Amino acid sequence: MKDNDYLLAKQFHLNTKNFEKKIIKEEARSFEIAKFPKKILKKEVIPVDQLAESDDSLYKALMNRESYRTLDIRVPINLTKISTLLQLSYLGRNNNTNHIITVPSAGGRYSSSIYLLSFNVMGIEPAVYYWDPFERHLALIKKGDVRKELKEGLLNPYRKDADNCSFAILLTSNINQTCSKYGNRGYRFVCLDVGYISQNLYLTSNHLNLATRAIGGFYDNVISKIIPNNGDEIILVHLFGKEMKSIGEQLEMDIDNYFN
Ligand SMILES: Cc1cc2nc3c(=O)[nH]c(=O)nc-3n(C[C@H](O)[C@H](O)[C@H](O)COP(=O)(O)O)c2cc1C
Repeated sequence: MKDNDYLLAKQFHLNTKNFEKKIIKEEARSFEIAKFPKKILKKEVIPVDQLAESDDSLYKALMNRESYRTLDIRVPINLTKISTLLQLSYLGRNNNTNHIITVPSAGGRYSSSIYLLSFNVMGIEPAVYYWDPFERHLALIKKGDVRKELKEGLLNPYRKDADNCSFAILLTSNINQTCSKYGNRGYRFVCLDVGYISQNLYLTSNHLNLATRAIGGFYDNVISKIIPNNGDEIILVHLFGKEMKSIGEQLEMDIDNYFN
C-alpha cells in the first residue's frame, strides 16, 4: 500500500488538529453532552460491588490512579524514577527484551513513540530526548530547556502546569506504520496503542509517587515543532511532577520520601 491509501486516516487526523485559530473543542460545544447513566433495559441486576482488599502494588496503583489537581513548583526528580517510568510504561519486543513487553500493539507495529522533555531531572540536562523502547536508552534530540515552547503549545488553562512541571512526555504515533498493515482502520489502533502507554504512565507514576495528567488540549502545530519532522504525530501530552500538598498534608509528610 502507498501512503496515499490511508487518506481517510490522514484527513481525520489533520481535521481534528487544534491550531491557535481553530480549536476543535469549540466546534464540539454545539453537540449535546452524552447523558449518564446509559439507557439500558434492566431486566435483572446482579450486584458486582464487592472488592477484596489487597496489598498488591498493581491493585494499589489502579485504586489510587488519578490526574493531579495542582503541581508543586519544579520539584527535581531522580533519573532512576524516569528510567523506571519509561521501562514499565513502554518496552517493545526485540531479541534482547523478548520476554519483557509492557504494552500490546496492533499488529506488533509499535507505531507509538515517547519523547521526553526534561526540565528538572537530576542526572540529565534539560533537553528533548527520544525514548528507545527496544534498546532502552534516551537519545538526545535537542539540547536545552523547551519549557517555553511547551507552554505556548498548550491551551491557556494548562500553561501554569507547564510552568511548574518537572518533566513532560509527548506521546506520538507514526500513522503510516500501523495503517500500512490495516489501511484506514489502523487509525483506531494508533490511538488505542497510545492509550495503553498513557494508562501505564498513570499507573507507574502512582507507584513511583509522581503526579501526572494527560493533556489533549494542545496546539498540534506548536507542539509538533518540539520533535523531529519524521512523520511522528503528537497524539497526547503528559505533564509530570509532584502534586502540591495541602498544609495539613505537608506537616505530616516525611520530607525524604517527598524527594525520592
Ligand atoms: C485522552 C485524554 C485527554 C485528556 N485531556 C485533558 C486536558 O486537555 N486537560 C485536562 O485537564 N485533563 C485532561 N485529561 C484528564 C481527564 O480530564 C481526567 O482523566 C478525567 O477528568 C478524570 O479524572 P481522573 O484522571 O483524576 O480520574 C485527559 C485525559 C485523557 C484520557
